[in-house]
Amino acid sequence: MNEIIGKPHDRVDGYLKVTGSARYSAEIPVENIAHAVFVGSTVAHGRIRDIDTRDTERAPGVLGVLTYRNMPKLGVLEPFPVGAAGQSYMPMQDDHIYYMDQHVALVVADTLERATYAATLLRITYAKEKVVATLTDGLPGAYPMKGPDGKPTDKVRGNPARSFAGSAVQIDETYTTPVEHHNPIEPHTTIAAWDGDKLTVYEPSQWVNGVRSLLASSLNISPKNIRVVSRFVGGAFGCKAFTHTHVPLAAVAAREVNRPVKLQLTRAQLFSSVSHRAATKQRVRLGAERDGRLIALLHDGTSPTSMFDDEPEAVTKITPMLYACKNLQATLHLVKTNMNTPGPMRAPGESTGSFALESALDELAYKLRIDPVELRLRNHADRDPESNLPWSSKSLKECYRQAAEKFGWSRRASAPGSMREGRHLVGMGMATATYPTHLSPATARVRLLADGSAQVECAAQDLGTGTYTALAIIAADALGLSVSSVRVEIGDTNLPPNAVAGGSRGTASVGQAVREAAIAARDETLRIAIADRRSPLYGATEADVVVERNRIFIKSDASKSETYSEVLRRYNRTSIEAYRETLPPEADERAMQLVLSGRDFETGGSRFKRFSSHAFGAQFCEVQVDADLGIVRVTRFVSAFGCGRIINRKAAESQLKGGIVMGIGMALTEETLVDRRNARIMNANLGEYHVPVNLDVPEINAFFVDEVDPYVGSLGAKGVGEIGIVGVAAAIANAIYHATGKRIRDLPITPDKLL
Ligand code: MOS
Repeated sequence: MNEIIGKPHDRVDGYLKVTGSARYSAEIPVENIAHAVFVGSTVAHGRIRDIDTRDTERAPGVLGVLTYRNMPKLGVLEPFPVGAAGQSYMPMQDDHIYYMDQHVALVVADTLERATYAATLLRITYAKEKVVATLTDGLPGAYPMKGPDGKPTDKVRGNPARSFAGSAVQIDETYTTPVEHHNPIEPHTTIAAWDGDKLTVYEPSQWVNGVRSLLASSLNISPKNIRVVSRFVGGAFGCKAFTHTHVPLAAVAAREVNRPVKLQLTRAQLFSSVSHRAATKQRVRLGAERDGRLIALLHDGTSPTSMFDDEPEAVTKITPMLYACKNLQATLHLVKTNMNTPGPMRAPGESTGSFALESALDELAYKLRIDPVELRLRNHADRDPESNLPWSSKSLKECYRQAAEKFGWSRRASAPGSMREGRHLVGMGMATATYPTHLSPATARVRLLADGSAQVECAAQDLGTGTYTALAIIAADALGLSVSSVRVEIGDTNLPPNAVAGGSRGTASVGQAVREAAIAARDETLRIAIADRRSPLYGATEADVVVERNRIFIKSDASKSETYSEVLRRYNRTSIEAYRETLPPEADERAMQLVLSGRDFETGGSRFKRFSSHAFGAQFCEVQVDADLGIVRVTRFVSAFGCGRIINRKAAESQLKGGIVMGIGMALTEETLVDRRNARIMNANLGEYHVPVNLDVPEINAFFVDEVDPYVGSLGAKGVGEIGIVGVAAAIANAIYHATGKRIRDLPITPDKLL
């Protein structure tokens, strides 16, 4: 496993993408397609008093108008961890309104323009009820997050409150983060087409098997009659992990008008129809000795959820494991608001939680006059302090060392406000990053073809993360072929099923099944060859035969060689194929059944019993702050990560950089603004919801330290999709404090907060 794995590779789908020939869901040509548009509620809480659909129905081209009055009854939606739904509440089943812009009607017409126009003719009146719009508004009703056993999910060890009270040095601060939306370039678009009782759905998804299981349960039809296709996804970050209510509604609309239907959410609807990252309020208390060693760590988080689901932004996920500390408290509370159900957004909980935790640690470092890196080293956890298990591998110290050196941390003058460049205040900040290793059961089929090429088939997803390329590399390595000889087919429920491409688990999980299936197909072909008198390999033992650079040969005599193609052709075989299912270490068959059914991927799947597995990293950044205008520029970013085996260095580094860019947005610009009077989102567009643009992003040096992990499955990969964003907001806030002496505990750090 060395020839090609871990080297930088260009994307195998790069050509398709830059030439525009990669087809996304909205671009799939389907004959006789009709167009559906949603009408959303203009109140966030209440009931529909009346919907007058007459003018809409009479408008040109209209094929159907669905409201709660004529909408067929759908089955229950089961959100994660039981099922694949983004929320449990299905709109258009009754007259209730629980959030702003909730689907109240679906207008289907022969063209998009006619559907859009006809939708404007609906006359809807509402009986309004009192709205709870934001975290702050809901706080008086805060309640503890409860687990499946009905008990609060609080984690406590030692005696945190007493240890905190008795500690020599204390930090007690509250940090807040706003609602954020994923805003992928590609909006969610569903194409639903029925052929008799068979349904085909094109939908950008991180989990086609999840979409299928949700459609089966909500429409009450057999999954065997449903095919879900998602070949290319134009960004996702969690909002396409679970299936949202527009998908079954589009399928129903297609059945009702008896034509294929395309339903494309508008950019504004991406703020209400799919999930978002919930706002957070986090109190962090640190109690320490004078030498910086943590005695007590208390982290209490509160986040808003919808009226019908308890879905937290779980900010305390990493708190119990990140630093050695005997006395710990980690709690989560929820408040009910008139928003749709929040969901995972890149490193959900880890990125928001680390903003508070890593800011607090920085505050402690200044209070004690200890270098922030040194403070973290003094609290380094040599084992997982939560589970008391050994780490499967951990390179955090090496990450601090290498990143600090490349960054030039030693040039930092320790006093805040002491570094300048012209009229700009210069600051340097750092933070720790970590993300848990999630592995899921996986399945794949690999086919060697008579032309000497190979085909990989599995219902994995490529969200832009590079899955096509990574799986081609893994198969090519196992088969002894070049990457260009491997074709990868993913994103289709007709292919072997897999778990969600979320939680940074995709490549690490599916890659194992691909590797094992490829090895099986290779070995089968070799066995055929060495048993065949016509083969130059005849009589060799299996151990003597190797495949490299598209040739099979005998190790001791490389002149005796042939190709897969020659073997297959001699037997008139079109292909030799192997299918494999792989389980993560310590997982059981039950976990495999859950993945095969497209219902779950975590239970019994991604927690290890004999070791604790996390990726770790160190984020270092430099900012320049305009002292007069409060404008912050991130001028340098240097980060090191230990993520086990890297499959494609180029794409993996891109993932880190993408995470850091998203973290720059989180730190400085991204914020969904909710009107407290009516729960209307005020900036539901890319003009006013500010994702970072090129000019906001400096040169980023994000790299991997060498790390071998013998425990996390046959690939030894820990996943790279999300760790890049963890710690970024804190590193930037810490650098801003270093530049200005101003501690901003409320994201995003916009200029007004610095003046
Ligand atoms: Mo990711 S937030 O697990 O899709």
